[in-house]
Amino acid sequence: MKKLYFSLSVLLLSLTLFAQQHSEQNHTKYVVPSDPKVKEKLNQWQNVKFGLLMHWGTYSQWGIVESWSLCPEDEGWCERRGPYKDNWYEYKKAYENLQDTFNPTQFAPEKWATAAKNAGMKYVVFTTKHHDGFCMFDTKQTDYKITKSPFGSNPRSNVAKEVFGAFRNEGFMIGAYFSKPDWHTNDYWWSYFPPKDRNPSYRPKQYPQKWESFKKFTYNQIEELMTDYGKVDILWLDGGWVRPFSTVDTTISWQKTIPFDQDIDMARIAKRGRELQPGLLVVDRTVSGEFENYVTPEHQIPDSYMDIPWETCMTMGDSWSYIPKENYKSARKLIHILADIVSKNGNLLLNVAPSPEGDFQPEAYQRLNEIGAWIKANGEAIYETHGDNEVGPQGKWVFTHKGNTTYAIYRADEGEAIPQTIEIEKLNLGKTAKITVVGNAENLTWVTKEGKVAVQIPEKLAKKIPNSYAYVLKITK
Ligand code: GLC
Repeated sequence: MKKLYFSLSVLLLSLTLFAQQHSEQNHTKYVVPSDPKVKEKLNQWQNVKFGLLMHWGTYSQWGIVESWSLCPEDEGWCERRGPYKDNWYEYKKAYENLQDTFNPTQFAPEKWATAAKNAGMKYVVFTTKHHDGFCMFDTKQTDYKITKSPFGSNPRSNVAKEVFGAFRNEGFMIGAYFSKPDWHTNDYWWSYFPPKDRNPSYRPKQYPQKWESFKKFTYNQIEELMTDYGKVDILWLDGGWVRPFSTVDTTISWQKTIPFDQDIDMARIAKRGRELQPGLLVVDRTVSGEFENYVTPEHQIPDSYMDIPWETCMTMGDSWSYIPKENYKSARKLIHILADIVSKNGNLLLNVAPSPEGDFQPEAYQRLNEIGAWIKANGEAIYETHGDNEVGPQGKWVFTHKGNTTYAIYRADEGEAIPQTIEIEKLNLGKTAKITVVGNAENLTWVTKEGKVAVQIPEKLAKKIPNSYAYVLKITK
């Protein structure tokens, strides 16, 4: 059964990525923030390019999809597993009882922070609460939280605080993932009506007091996170169906299923958040407008340069949450993805899922390590660059810019050496322009030929350049 579940999950993955969709969006509605502190932070965030996302919760113990198996929708990614799967009520109980066994004794966030830093990551986004409502922080609003699990007796049981602290110590920007929908609180899935789907089990308009109470609960939790957890830079809000009905964009297919208004007063939340955390980036995913300081295509990379702040969130393996046999992308692929994204003006938020015991799988550390080795040598082509709207992409080449320098990044196949004859269009170099291979001081000879810059890598030099996932030319105009 377990096996079947996993092969099924893999099969359904593409579907999942498609249908949980936070990708499709109309970006013409992007609103440039007016608060100078927000602008400044946004700028800082756009310069750091590469972050770590972690999905971690009681669901990790079952090695299943985060939260979604609770959702009574007839969708592949909501499928239940295990002995209670045929009865939703029993299943929910069993799922919530996972709180009583969650005891991640290997939890040592410094280890993650060190690995992420070495990989070249500079910000972190951590699931403080996913849709299931289980809090990975010591909230006062509910007992459904990590500090009331067996791990509660551990001095580091306020996990979100520990994660933020460890990463902050390594100079990371700090992001709190927070799910607006909450499938545990009686103010969202009110037990009077059984839930039919991901939405509240009641009509907020019909039961305004219930909805008010939910709003208060949400506001209070976010206020706690912005008060007691040190400096927070990003409030990353998931569950885009919780939104004012007026913001529903019916040209986007998934938003058509939102049945009614779920306004939680983002203006009030953002205002309080920024009182407590000046310049806080608010990322109310997919709710285009004032409270979406950057957009977050999920598992998607836009076709071309996008002139607004954006971030692709993506899994290092196949799933957001821990599964025992994860199928990790290769470091080569991940570096190519990072280069592609940065060349289009975006950031990459790469998800690694901690195990129920509280660590990453060895393969994840290995990928982080390999990415780090490349970044150490070539990071100048990534950080503090601007996306490229002029030159590329050209085949395997993508480009970034910094001042009067252009970086040309060649995404090599496995075993492929640096190409010795290179031709790049649309470069427009002055006569004194210099071209080098990053990491090597030797000036390369180049000529302009039929509008193309032709560069020759001497054989002697080519031999010296070790095989790499991606080769970088530094072109100074
Ligand atoms: C998808 C998933 C959700 C996950 C999110 C991360 O929307 O449904 O569970 O947290 O992606 O971007």
